[in-house]
Amino acid sequence: MKLRDFLSDETLQNKHVLKMLLMHHAWFTKETLLTQMDQEIEQHVVDLILHDYKRYVNDKEPLEYIMGYVEFDQRKLFVDKNTMIPRPETEYMIQACKQELQEWAQTSTEWQHIVADVGTGCGVLGLSTFLSAPDWCDSLFLMDYYPECLKTAKKNAHHLLTQEQQQKAHYLHANLLQGLLEKVSLEENDSLLVTANLPYIPTQTFDEQAEDNVHLWEPRYAFISGDDGLDLYREMFAQIKEHDWLRAMATGGRFVMFLEMMTWQVDILRKEFPWMSFEEVKTFHFQIRIVKATFQ
Ligand SMILES: C[S@@+](CC[C@H](N)C(=O)[O-])C[C@H]1O[C@@H](n2cnc3c(N)ncnc32)[C@H](O)[C@@H]1O
Repeated sequence: MKLRDFLSDETLQNKHVLKMLLMHHAWFTKETLLTQMDQEIEQHVVDLILHDYKRYVNDKEPLEYIMGYVEFDQRKLFVDKNTMIPRPETEYMIQACKQELQEWAQTSTEWQHIVADVGTGCGVLGLSTFLSAPDWCDSLFLMDYYPECLKTAKKNAHHLLTQEQQQKAHYLHANLLQGLLEKVSLEENDSLLVTANLPYIPTQTFDEQAEDNVHLWEPRYAFISGDDGLDLYREMFAQIKEHDWLRAMATGGRFVMFLEMMTWQVDILRKEFPWMSFEEVKTFHFQIRIVKATFQ
């Protein structure tokens, strides 16, 4: 069948999805899809595309799970049903983290430099941040409570990092920061940059308002966090408070966290954790904030 005929089939209305599947199964480039309408598509490829198109339309399965990857920050990352699909706002978080890390990297020191991604999922935040200054970073920790997420994060690390960079990557199956607190001993002048896009949707809001495809396919544990969505952030700040070394290090070294949450949640955290400062560094549409948290 010719590409032109396939794309003009009126029973297949979502042309964007059709084109994505053509690129995935037939290896067509964007240019081919625009300029070479006489290209032939083999029947077994047409069948594959139609099969996946039905999964998307009838079963509401996200395209990223069907294809097994997502293009993000100009990189290909594997995703599966255990890992939340990275959202556009995460690009903003990555920008903020990269900017911070690159500023740090300009000050060359002998200290230890660590990037830790808490609730890493497929590893998108930790890997993208690390890759903005890979020579400067001594260690990258990809951490999640769910072992299946760590498997995918590891697969992405193997795919994106060089052999040498892989020596710096560690995978911690742990509740929030606990694994890092137990494993790493930080000195006064070390630098630690934590990225944490933890679940922050109030459970009831998720149950009532999430889209069908999210409910049906994405892992609930990646979204919900109690009545006001802050249970996990609260628990993480409690872990930080208990560990003197983190505060000791922050007096001489550098400790910064980048978090994602909703606008109204930032004010709650400011009231409950007055020993931390929460600065809103990026805004994504009207209610999502990327927040930089440091010790006061
Ligand atoms: C909103 S998703 C973020 C995934 C990825 N970092 C991103 O930005 O796309 C939240 C992640 O937190 C993980 N998570 C949930 N509870 C956790 C806990 N108690 N400790 C560590 N990770 C947790 C989930 O498995 C999920 O991967």
